[in-house]
Amino acid sequence: MTLQELTAHVSQQFTKAHGRPPRWIVAAPGRVNLIGEHTDYNDGFVLPMAIEFYTVMAADRPAGDTKQIRLYSTLADKPASIDLTRPVKPFPKGTWSNYPAGVIAGFLARGLKPGGFDATIHSTVPLGGGLSSSAALEVATATLLEVITGKKLDPVEKALLCQKAEHEFAGMPCGIMDQFVSVMGRENHLLLLDCRSRRTELVPLDDPSVAVLIVNTNVKHKLTGSEYPARRKQCELAAKILGVPSLRSANPKALEDAKDRMDEVVYRRARHVVGEIERTVYAAEGIRASNWPTVGQLMYASHYSLRDDYEVSCDELDIVVGVAEGIGVKGGVYGCRMTGGGFGGCAVALVKADAVDAISKKIADDYKTKTGIEATIFVSRPAAGATVIKG
Ligand code: GLA
Repeated sequence: MTLQELTAHVSQQFTKAHGRPPRWIVAAPGRVNLIGEHTDYNDGFVLPMAIEFYTVMAADRPAGDTKQIRLYSTLADKPASIDLTRPVKPFPKGTWSNYPAGVIAGFLARGLKPGGFDATIHSTVPLGGGLSSSAALEVATATLLEVITGKKLDPVEKALLCQKAEHEFAGMPCGIMDQFVSVMGRENHLLLLDCRSRRTELVPLDDPSVAVLIVNTNVKHKLTGSEYPARRKQCELAAKILGVPSLRSANPKALEDAKDRMDEVVYRRARHVVGEIERTVYAAEGIRASNWPTVGQLMYASHYSLRDDYEVSCDELDIVVGVAEGIGVKGGVYGCRMTGGGFGGCAVALVKADAVDAISKKIADDYKTKTGIEATIFVSRPAAGATVIKG
């Protein structure tokens, strides 16, 4: 579904529910990270792009009562109501409406009052697939509130407000990558983000001979909830032992020297992060130089480090990467790795554009044979960040 089709669909749903067309429509994309995994909360570099899959929100003032926000998601059983006459509090853990509610609370905390509205939401970002469906929902909400309140936030502040919503309302201590790229993504560009200075640099990815292939394993292992904060803590501990503010300030030599003073697991976690930050910088150089085989090798190295040192991969992701590596550069695959938090979700591959169909078929067939599961495979060009479609 193109953004245009998705917009028409959401607009229609809104009109059906309310008997009039929406006054405001906004969209925010999901993302795929090419390299730089589990580096954002270590002040490192990440290199994601926004994808052509979006969350769209269509909204208007309610007919009568203006102190209620009512959110209808086409993907959820129940609508959510937020009563603006009381402080906005989180819903029970695991409720989808915590993402928009956290963003609304962030606006209110800044004195920006949206007043009541009705909104209809639909998303083509696969839910829970590691492509930041949650960030897309947060950023779409923030974009809608900007239009309603007439106050455009600074993009960095907007991304941080959305991250805070995820921390405080969804209880997920995520880094800043997903929200940044959903806000700041640019067509035909990757976003090289320095998570320490929060400076961004757009790296063109517009060579028509290469394509970014996304392979959804369609599995989600239930570990993410506890494992992610555990990884964060291990990284903080490693930084403390090394006497640095974050692992961004550590180098491989200092880490080797401190090896004996660290638990073996903590050492391996730190080795992943320190190596991954370096790989991300090299990969950005490789992309600028259109050196696809080098970028591909860095992607494999990233995967093995995430699998062995960081231990956030799973059998299904390893199978996809193994099949891709078996196809090799000759068959059109430069590199492949898991992407996002891990324990399921998606793998990302950099491939020759003219081999996309053959590669997709081979991965889908072999994955099905080895796991019994159907993968979902698609290509995306780097997309633009959040937009106001009607406002
Ligand atoms: C999740 C988090 C991000 C980032 C990745 C791992 O997607 O939301 O902040 O930490 O995991 O790179």
